[in-house]
Amino acid sequence: MLIIAIAKGRLLKPSLAMLKDAGVELEEDALTSRRLILNSRDSRYKVILVKPVDTPTYVEYGAADLGIAGNDVVIESGADLFQPLDLRFGQCRIAVAALEDAKRKKRAGNPTVRVATKYPSIALEYFNSKSVPVEIIPLAGSIELAPLIGLADMIVDLVETGQTLQDNGLKIVDVISESSARLVINRASYQTKRQEVGAFVRALEELV
Ligand code: PRP
Repeated sequence: MLIIAIAKGRLLKPSLAMLKDAGVELEEDALTSRRLILNSRDSRYKVILVKPVDTPTYVEYGAADLGIAGNDVVIESGADLFQPLDLRFGQCRIAVAALEDAKRKKRAGNPTVRVATKYPSIALEYFNSKSVPVEIIPLAGSIELAPLIGLADMIVDLVETGQTLQDNGLKIVDVISESSARLVINRASYQTKRQEVGAFVRALEELV
């Protein structure tokens, strides 16, 4: 029995489709059910539905053997996971963005850049690497709002279509990294369930 953690939200539908193509047929429709643990028809798999940001934690602690998570949350978590496969969906960028120059109000006499983000570690590392003094303001969502109401000078956030940035008058200043859905595996499960995990990885490999 393998336990697979998949994230609710934008990766859910393509994750379920890929699992189905890899032979994981669930007893219930995860898109409509409110259950958080779903069994496969052949009882070989359990799928657990978690918050995207929590996926690396479930897998790192071995509560799930494997997971599908955005590379953005995997990097941010710093979790020690085996990552054998880029699943090639959920493509997006982790970008630095700010208001267009004309609308940007400088905070007089303060060299520190205030950055609102759901990715405090990634943002801190980025600004440190540029030797820019930074104050990170961690937020859980609606990041694009922060510069509009003066909470932050810049944001570090996920950009998929770019629509949210555009609708809020923000422009990309720099792209920190590309992101996509990754298969992540608990290091102990990779050893102790070598056959089952290996077969599952090969099934996904054929699909990507
Ligand atoms: C994400 C991200 C951006 C938006 C980018 O937010 O934080 O706000 O999607 O997508 P786009 O480039 O296609 O417009 P999400 O929808 O997950 O909601 P949140 O603001 O609650 O985090």
